[in-house]
Amino acid sequence: MLLRHLPLLAFGIWTAQPGAAYVSQRRDEEGTCKKTTVAILGAGIAGIAAAEALSNASMSDFLILEYRDRIGGRAWHENFGKKEDGSPYVVEMGANWVQGLGNPGGPENPIWTLAKEFGLQTTYSNYSNVSTYNEHGYKDYSHLLDQFDEAYDIASPAAGQLLVDNLQDQTAKAGLALAGWKPKSHDMEAQAVDWWSWDFESAYTPQESSFIFGVASGNLTSNQFSDHDNFVTDQRGFNHIIKGMASKFMKEEDPRLLLNTIITNITYTPEGVTIHSKDGTCVQAAYAICTFSLGVLQNDAVTFIPELPEWKQTAIHMFTMATYTKIFMQFNQTFWPTDTQYFLYADPTTRGYYPLLQSLSMDGFHPNSNISFMTVTEEMAYRAERQSDETTKNEIVAVLQNMFPDVAVPEPTAFMYPRWSTEPWAYGTYSNWPMGTTLEMHQNLRANTDRLWFAGEATSPSYFGFMHGAWFEGRAAGREIAAALGGCKRNSTACGKRKHYDDLRGTTPLADYSFVNGWTASSFYDSNDD
Ligand SMILES: Cc1cc2nc3c(=O)[nH]c(=O)nc-3n(C[C@H](O)[C@H](O)[C@H](O)COP(=O)(O)OP(=O)(O)OC[C@H]3O[C@@H](n4cnc5c(N)ncnc54)[C@H](O)[C@@H]3O)c2cc1C
Ligand SMILES: *[C@@H]1O[C@H](CO)[C@@H](O)[C@H](O)[C@H]1NC(C)=O
Ligand SMILES: *[C@@H]1O[C@H](CO)[C@@H](O)[C@H](O)[C@H]1NC(C)=O
Ligand SMILES: *[C@@H]1O[C@H](CO)[C@@H](O)[C@H](O)[C@H]1NC(C)=O
Ligand SMILES: *[C@@H]1O[C@H](CO)[C@@H](O)[C@H](O)[C@H]1NC(C)=O
Ligand SMILES: *[C@@H]1O[C@H](CO)[C@@H](O)[C@H](O)[C@H]1NC(C)=O
Ligand SMILES: *[C@@H]1O[C@H](CO)[C@@H](O)[C@H](O)[C@H]1NC(C)=O
Ligand SMILES: *[C@@H]1O[C@H](CO)[C@@H](O)[C@H](O)[C@H]1NC(C)=O
Ligand SMILES: *[C@@H]1O[C@H](CO)[C@@H](O)[C@H](O)[C@H]1NC(C)=O
Repeated sequence: MLLRHLPLLAFGIWTAQPGAAYVSQRRDEEGTCKKTTVAILGAGIAGIAAAEALSNASMSDFLILEYRDRIGGRAWHENFGKKEDGSPYVVEMGANWVQGLGNPGGPENPIWTLAKEFGLQTTYSNYSNVSTYNEHGYKDYSHLLDQFDEAYDIASPAAGQLLVDNLQDQTAKAGLALAGWKPKSHDMEAQAVDWWSWDFESAYTPQESSFIFGVASGNLTSNQFSDHDNFVTDQRGFNHIIKGMASKFMKEEDPRLLLNTIITNITYTPEGVTIHSKDGTCVQAAYAICTFSLGVLQNDAVTFIPELPEWKQTAIHMFTMATYTKIFMQFNQTFWPTDTQYFLYADPTTRGYYPLLQSLSMDGFHPNSNISFMTVTEEMAYRAERQSDETTKNEIVAVLQNMFPDVAVPEPTAFMYPRWSTEPWAYGTYSNWPMGTTLEMHQNLRANTDRLWFAGEATSPSYFGFMHGAWFEGRAAGREIAAALGGCKRNSTACGKRKHYDDLRGTTPLADYSFVNGWTASSFYDSNDD
């Protein structure tokens, strides 16, 4: 490889190829890189949606480069435990719910559309089906759940008003407090309810989350589509629908899909993008769409040449990447009640310490599987991910013994959890919107740098953190690039360029909550759709 002479730009030999609107290259590399019109970096749902959008626009000259040996990204499943016949169950390490399905006549979540199209097996996840526990066993503190819900109903329009009036954001903690929800730091039952009602979704505390965008994201998903979430139990895995999408425009062994390709360097210019991988191969493209997680961008797992501009780097580091870890267990019996989906636990000293047991050993899930899992977030997730399986297992058995004092809690017969915070292709689970970060800041996360586009869960202002957010963003990037390649007849001002702000002023006028900025829902705020 002739790659020692960086920085490439210093040579001043980047030129557009005559005739074609694409492929710039360094002279001494000529012929060594694969050439394509659009390089899609990552084969998660955003990448596959981008490829589908290009295909839909009759643009078939693209390559998809993927780190792993499969498509799906954070829709990642593994075998776990044993069925009675000795074969393993399949559980989702990553995304697990289709969130917000859709009401008849209303808009439908595209993930739900795909789930129906490809017969994905799911079960209604009933968040009201929750029992409350503390260190002495079952204890009914469900009135606190009601208190939270009452406050939330007041907080939600208040957050909407801040957005509409372009007023300063608050923390979700402040917004909820003003609406009447003020959990005391020593009231561990209230803290457990606070975790369940906020952290369980955003994987950060209300203190760390934007009031406006935290409420808006839940709102847009559950009000715009529906407040039903379905839990994916399909033994083919959640990524079955992503493979299904891909099957509509690619063959099973399509040469355009390059698996096991670890991208290390991305060189972007106004004429094109060159991508280098660990195995020494490279791809030259007229445009590229980077769908890497915010965690990958934050951890410098890939080198951008030239360095990303300061406005982009600021956005990358201002938004936050959560870690949400599911710890799977199988036992030789189901010793917890079989008529309850969720078991909330208030630890006496530590908020978020193994706060939620979720049962899969029931009708609609994996009946009689004796499988359940604990969910931990943020600091408690980092902690669990840092320590050994054995330590975590012992801690959880002790918690379960507190929760169910009338049974002798057995050792799990199978035990497994991912280490999301150190997975080199993810570095965390999904993004969150911190307090005081405006839509303009988010547009900087979303904006292109020359011919390099960014898409994925984190670039969706209305659905960050969700599968459908990634789908919408992949589609948007694919469509915009297809339009640019087609000469942008429809609207030349918006062509081939997303808006960014060199100077952030901490505000965003209502008119900016628009379709071109990724705000896909308009009905609540009277902004423009397309
Ligand atoms: C534990 C967990 C629970 C979740 N729960 C839900 C849920 O219930 N419902 C929901 O809607 N969403 C959920 N999500 C979020 C959802 O999984 C994501 O929003 C979505 O999968 C993101 O898709 P994406 O295409 O943006 O990114 P990804 O799926 O991360 O795709 C990016 C791809 O880029 C690849 N890549 C990264 N680095 C490189 C590199 N250097 N070279 C080449 N390729 C690279 C990755 O391997 C990956 O395949 C959850 C996520 C996690 C992790
Ligand atoms: C591609 O077109 C099909 C058929 O119109 C549509 O169902 C699908 O949503 C489109 N996909 C994208 C990503 O735009
Ligand atoms: C959800 O659970 C609650 C309480 O457990 C129950 O009252 C309600 O009927 C359930 N909803 C559905 C749709 O099953
Ligand atoms: C949430 O939705 C409600 C309507 O159901 C609306 O009144 C409120 O303004 C919205 N809030 C946000 C922050 O989106
Ligand atoms: C990739 O970037 C690294 C770090 O900046 C650099 O050392 C390496 O030479 C680059 N490789 C290529 C292929 O450009
Ligand atoms: C779950 O436990 C019950 C009771 O011990 C047992 O009969 C059943 O076989 C177990 N299920 C599996 C999948 O092992
Ligand atoms: C809770 O959910 C389980 C499993 O879906 C169901 O069997 C049970 O009836 C539900 N409980 C209530 C009170 O709705
Ligand atoms: C499960 O294992 C425990 C020992 O860990 C044992 O006491 C119990 O009887 C077993 N239960 C069943 C149903 O086999
Ligand atoms: C084109 O897009 C720009 C930027 O989004 C917008 O301001 C402008 O009104 C659009 N023009 C037309 C003719 O649609």
